[in-house]
Amino acid sequence: MTDPGPDPYAGVDGHLDERAVDTGVQPGDTDVEASLRPRSLEEFVGQPRVREQLQLVLEGARRRGDPPDHILLSGPPGLGKTSLAMIIAQEMGAAIRLTSGPALERAGDLAAMLSNLVPGDVLFIDEIHRTARPAEEMLYLAMEDFRVDVVVGKGPGATSIPLDVAPFTLVGATTRAGSLTGPLRDRFGFTGQMEFYDVPELDRVLRRAAGILGIDLRADGAAEIAGRCRGTPRVANRLLRRVRDYAEVRADGVVTREVARDALAVYDVDELGLDRLDRAVLGALVRSFHGGPVGVSTLAVAVGEEPGTVEEVCEPYLVRAGMIARTPRGRVATPLAWTHLGLAPPADAPAGHRVDPLF
Ligand SMILES: Nc1ncnc2c1ncn2[C@@H]1O[C@H](COP(=O)(O)OP(=O)(O)OP(=O)(O)O)[C@@H](O)[C@H]1O
Ligand SMILES: [Mg+2]
Repeated sequence: MTDPGPDPYAGVDGHLDERAVDTGVQPGDTDVEASLRPRSLEEFVGQPRVREQLQLVLEGARRRGDPPDHILLSGPPGLGKTSLAMIIAQEMGAAIRLTSGPALERAGDLAAMLSNLVPGDVLFIDEIHRTARPAEEMLYLAMEDFRVDVVVGKGPGATSIPLDVAPFTLVGATTRAGSLTGPLRDRFGFTGQMEFYDVPELDRVLRRAAGILGIDLRADGAAEIAGRCRGTPRVANRLLRRVRDYAEVRADGVVTREVARDALAVYDVDELGLDRLDRAVLGALVRSFHGGPVGVSTLAVAVGEEPGTVEEVCEPYLVRAGMIARTPRGRVATPLAWTHLGLAPPADAPAGHRVDPLF
């Protein structure tokens, strides 16, 4: 498999880990995420298309008494791929075995997992696009024919021993469906393309989480947070926890619109979910480069940040929000970027368009 290059959605390092709006997993998230994971398709908020399709796939398999087809879940971090994988196993009454592409470095690692499967098991491979080539090739045969060829020994004396694998369902998750090789992609019977959540859906995610965590979240407070979480349940849950801290320490524990607004101001998350780094990038583009065009690496130097971080973390969101346009000559600020910073856009600023109905 060719090197897919840096993952635009992978967790970021350095001080960015502190960003309240980072869509990747942060250290404090793990335990709470486990308690907030929806446990059934019924409980799973949003993604109506994927949910309906999945319901049919699972029901069909149940009626036939077979394990369902292999399932690929693709989409940006924090939208619920891992949660859905667990739900699939739950709905099928099956056990789930968890691993990830990077953990399957040698074919032997995968052979060990596969040979331990019992009929009907769900094998979940997270970040499947990062599976090493030998393991990926072993997977082809396992997915198609439920068997593997294990090579024993080295050199001319090496022999290949065929092994049967119990009929199982592979659930793969990827933030980069484009980096999957054709042969691997073709072996999935169903692909669920996860979309960003809209504001009413995030509102439901927040109310559900508040119920589980025992937070007194008022309707206006939920609405205030929902608009700022980048279409991502993981960010919604994290902002809710930060707002709860504020509500308990500085107010009476009740999350109203006012409390949410004041809390998010402390964490530097503005009303569109942009944080300090996003705004620094916009500010540099508008003030230092008069709206562009300018290259991403130049922008990154201007804000003292890694080019990769600006390109892979900030920029996609700013483009989606319709504030930055990509042109062949570089990045350009749209009128929305100027007005968001409280400035009057120049007459020749290019119109941007919001790619997602998040805002
Ligand atoms: N549809 C949903 N309804 C309610 N909560 C959700 C939903 N989707 C995700 N969440 C919450 O967001 C958290 C992150 O979801 P999950 O770990 O499934 O995302 P992911 O797509 O696997 O992310 P990554 O790509 O980083 O692995 C979960 O712990 C859960 O609390
Ligand atoms: Mg995951």
